[in-house]
Amino acid sequence: MDEISNICCVGAGYVGGPTMAMIAHKCPDLEVTVVDYDADRIAAWNSDELPIFEPGLDEIVKGSRNRNLFFSTDRDKGIREADVVFIAVSTPTKTYGIGAGRAADLKYIESCARHIAEVADSNTIVVEKSTVPVRTADAVRTILEASKGKGVMQVLSNPEFMAEGSALKDLENPDRVLIGGERTPEGQRAIEKLAAVYARWVPREKVISTNLWSSELSKLTANAFLAQRISSINAISALCEATGADVDEIAHAIGLDRRVGPNFLKSSVGFGGSCFQKDIYNLVYLCAHFGLEEVADYWEQVVAMNDYQKRRFSRRIMEALFNTAADKRVAILGFAFKKDTNDTRESASIYVCRDLLQEEARLAIYDPKVPAMQVHDELKIVEGSGQVEVCGDPYAAAEGAHAVAILTEWDEFKELDYQRIYESMLKPALIFDGRNILDLDSLREIGFKAEGIGKS
Ligand code: UDX
Ligand code: UDX
Repeated sequence: MDEISNICCVGAGYVGGPTMAMIAHKCPDLEVTVVDYDADRIAAWNSDELPIFEPGLDEIVKGSRNRNLFFSTDRDKGIREADVVFIAVSTPTKTYGIGAGRAADLKYIESCARHIAEVADSNTIVVEKSTVPVRTADAVRTILEASKGKGVMQVLSNPEFMAEGSALKDLENPDRVLIGGERTPEGQRAIEKLAAVYARWVPREKVISTNLWSSELSKLTANAFLAQRISSINAISALCEATGADVDEIAHAIGLDRRVGPNFLKSSVGFGGSCFQKDIYNLVYLCAHFGLEEVADYWEQVVAMNDYQKRRFSRRIMEALFNTAADKRVAILGFAFKKDTNDTRESASIYVCRDLLQEEARLAIYDPKVPAMQVHDELKIVEGSGQVEVCGDPYAAAEGAHAVAILTEWDEFKELDYQRIYESMLKPALIFDGRNILDLDSLREIGFKAEGIGKS
């Protein structure tokens, strides 16, 4: 087998787009084509307004685009010409049939595998980039092998560990690159070829290989552990509010223990994003499928705790509003699931907004990167219905409000003129910091009734 010179990625989303842009940036002699069946998305990748916001993404896309990085809807051509085809299509939670609400919906992976089987030749290496249940590679391989006269294509698992908002930094300097493959000479050769691409900028010792199933399951396990850390500290935050302890002080104190470590211990209104909940449900479903009910119950609690945390936050707002929110204006600062992204999938902000809308509050929402249409879509509210106003700046959102809730930790929220905000609000002026980014004592000095997470 020759070296890799041409790469195709199916799926121009939050994973496929930035990952391929980084490969093209680091390997100018490789030709990288990202294909997608969504023509609008491809047009956006080829325009000045990229479809996703990530710090640093514009620069590297614009530096490589139409040189060795291409975005196209011509999936046949992209796949046919490639030595390696990455599958980075979405794998949402199933909403129908067996496993609904739990299992991953693999229909896009399957149709993608069928398409590759039809178009690619036998030397093509097929790489699962999407997060999939363990043993999905079996299904992909069966589909590929069933396509007559094509020989045996190699299937690798190469999960992506980058986080949104820091995607480029994570891709440039990953903690590790994981490649799973078959323990056969052909499988090992395929692993080596893909490893050689990453080794162009990642230290060789950080590129590790495992068998296919370990690789697939490592991704689910990594996300489950990360989410579990957040649910654990959030569980303690509830106890802090009841006892007068401070959750940030606790996180600092326990994080100094090297066995625990300081990262990913920030208590919040709850985790969001397209991965954590979906991947834990996926893990829960797998455990139940293999008859491991206790293991399934254990992991399910991580999501249950997160739901509790989101609901608890809405309830605290309601209580401070004397349990009547009807027609009261509440300013929502932040709609993305974390800072530095325009992604709103499973954002905690959506859940809090829905709870308040059920109580007939009027919401004034501001997020620096999320467009109004996306807010209306997520809340399933018709634009102009009056219950939700999307504002162009945070001061406009807060004007005349009974309460302000901070739901995304955007840096700009730390720098706002809270005196000005206070003066423009109805009194008592309530502020709820769902991200613990503000100094509650200073807010209280201004006159706010201020509450954070895990603080009294
Ligand atoms: C990724 C992973 O692939 C998913 O498994 C992981 O758990 C979360 O991140 P992401 O890139 O965030 O998904 O998804 P999305 O932004 O929805 O991108 C997927 C793209 O694939 C979309 O642009 C969609 O149009 C495209 N697609 C989907 C195809 O081109 N063909 C298909 O058959 C299905
Ligand atoms: C996650 C994993 O981190 C990444 O490795 C994987 O590839 C995809 O899933 P992502 O969902 O993009 O990445 O972002 P992440 O930084 O993990 O944040 C997820 C959610 O947890 C966000 O809502 C964030 O605000 C929240 N969070 C994170 C906390 O509430 N506290 C923390 O300490 C860290």
